[in-house]
Amino acid sequence: MKKKIIITGGAGYIGSHCVLSLVKNDYVPIILDNFSNSCPSIIKNLESIINKKIIFYKLDIKNTKKLKLIFKRHKCQAVIHCAGYKSVKESNRIPIAYLENNIQSTLSLLECMKEHKIYELIFSSSATVYNQDQKLPWKETGQIGKTTNPYGTSKYIIERILIDIGKSDPKWNFKIARYFNPIGNHPSGLIRDNSKGIPNNLMPYIVKVAQKKLPYLNVYGKNYSTRDGTCIRDFIHVTDLAEGHIAMLKKKNHKKRLEIYNFGTGKGSTVLEVIKAFEKETGIHIPFRFAKRRKGDVPISLSSSKKAFKKLFWKPKLNLNQAIIDIKATLNL
Ligand code: WQD
Repeated sequence: MKKKIIITGGAGYIGSHCVLSLVKNDYVPIILDNFSNSCPSIIKNLESIINKKIIFYKLDIKNTKKLKLIFKRHKCQAVIHCAGYKSVKESNRIPIAYLENNIQSTLSLLECMKEHKIYELIFSSSATVYNQDQKLPWKETGQIGKTTNPYGTSKYIIERILIDIGKSDPKWNFKIARYFNPIGNHPSGLIRDNSKGIPNNLMPYIVKVAQKKLPYLNVYGKNYSTRDGTCIRDFIHVTDLAEGHIAMLKKKNHKKRLEIYNFGTGKGSTVLEVIKAFEKETGIHIPFRFAKRRKGDVPISLSSSKKAFKKLFWKPKLNLNQAIIDIKATLNL
């Protein structure tokens, strides 16, 4: 009997790619999504990629009553929790909404899981929990908590919640996945980073400029102490990241009730290098202007993913260029 996996935010950018990896690895995904930052068309696009129907429910997982009905109907092995607001910039503008939504939805989910004796949770956390003033690349044992924006703070608080809940009952089995910067998409271009409105993240913004939907890119800051003065980020192909979730599902925590894994490549690219790589690969000019630094940005974010390699036998297979090649497929859509 194939194992059912509930995936919150399963119509979102990361979630939808995790759905493909789940199906590829013979799991049955059950998508929960309120479409606050994704499109219902993603479900149809997923079904056309995998050529079969997908079980999905439109709901806000903060609605614990409705959520319990789904847990009652579907006996699942584990939950992958991707649902949450995810923009650094937007979180500075609406901090209360970010903290309330991200934390409350997680507490609602944990309550349902406990009631239905589902103890395995993979939580989508973020590199923004790391204190920026520590030796690079950042390891899972690194210092965290000096977050610079409400988005990162919400992720940090949820990690603390999981640590405390994990201590309360030996049956809990938590894996925290700290994502660095996910980019790229499925080669078909049918699922992609399609957040609503004007993108906050670099790559989706570049895509809009490439599609002439935005006139130029603002490069936030040109005097950071990096090789070309712009920030450095560790861009990981979203398909590699999705496969990392399968590797976590397959790995049972032994003694520890909670394991943390970084998902990045360990290689950094500056903002200007990303623009140049995009132009070279696509042949599309990306006009940009230097603007002042963006509140909450860190100069360099770079992962050590040695632990995922050693414990999960996972390593990234794709790179920045492959991500841009895959993005090209969306440019014609
Ligand atoms: C990257 C770099 C910007 C836009 C956040 C979250 C992280 C993940 C990805 C969820 C920065 C610069 C950006 C633009 C720019 N979230 N930039 N012009 O802030 O590193 O990470 O989003 O998975 O958890 O923390 O990503 O893409 O917003 O920015 O110059 O229009 O690009 O200043 O240096 P970030 P980002």
